[in-house]
Amino acid sequence: LPGDFIALTGPLGAGKTCFARGVLKGAGVPGYPASPSFTIVFEYEGRIPVYHMDVYRLHDPSELLHIGYDEYFYGDGACIVEWADQVLPCLPKDRLCVDIRYAGEHGRILTFLAFGARHARILKLLGKEVEEYFSSGD
Ligand SMILES: Nc1ncnc2c1ncn2[C@@H]1O[C@H](COP(=O)(O)OP(=O)(O)OP(=O)(O)O)[C@@H](O)[C@H]1O
Ligand SMILES: [Mg+2]
Repeated sequence: LPGDFIALTGPLGAGKTCFARGVLKGAGVPGYPASPSFTIVFEYEGRIPVYHMDVYRLHDPSELLHIGYDEYFYGDGACIVEWADQVLPCLPKDRLCVDIRYAGEHGRILTFLAFGARHARILKLLGKEVEEYFSSGD
């Protein structure tokens, strides 16, 4: 929904873009989204506008101001940001944080943390879906 915000963190190559692509797909964005590494923001039209950002190349959170970030963070769409820890002071207070860590060569550990009531609800629903997913398969 508009206002949904996902803050992705984790080391180089952890799988942030891969996770974002899954979210974009889930939001009804057609095709295969690009990697935003050299572009700060890609705008997509899913069921609603979805902004996929990578702020790795921003060296100071204040640089966000130059790209008019509030249009993406607080605008008419949902937003998913890679390297969100680089702009921590600017992140919306209400957000879902997803941290991706390496666990062995091919494994990953994902930690979900919700800030604010809105994203706490989203995380609860997500938890239920994950639970159902793993209990339905064998
Ligand atoms: N959950 C996962 N489990 C195992 N491998 C994964 C997972 N997610 C992504 N990968 C693999 O890790 C590699 C890097 O993925 P990706 O580009 O999504 O990482 P990234 O965190 O966005 O990197 P960057 O820090 O450069 O933005 C890809 O080869 C991808 O296939
Ligand atoms: Mg990436």
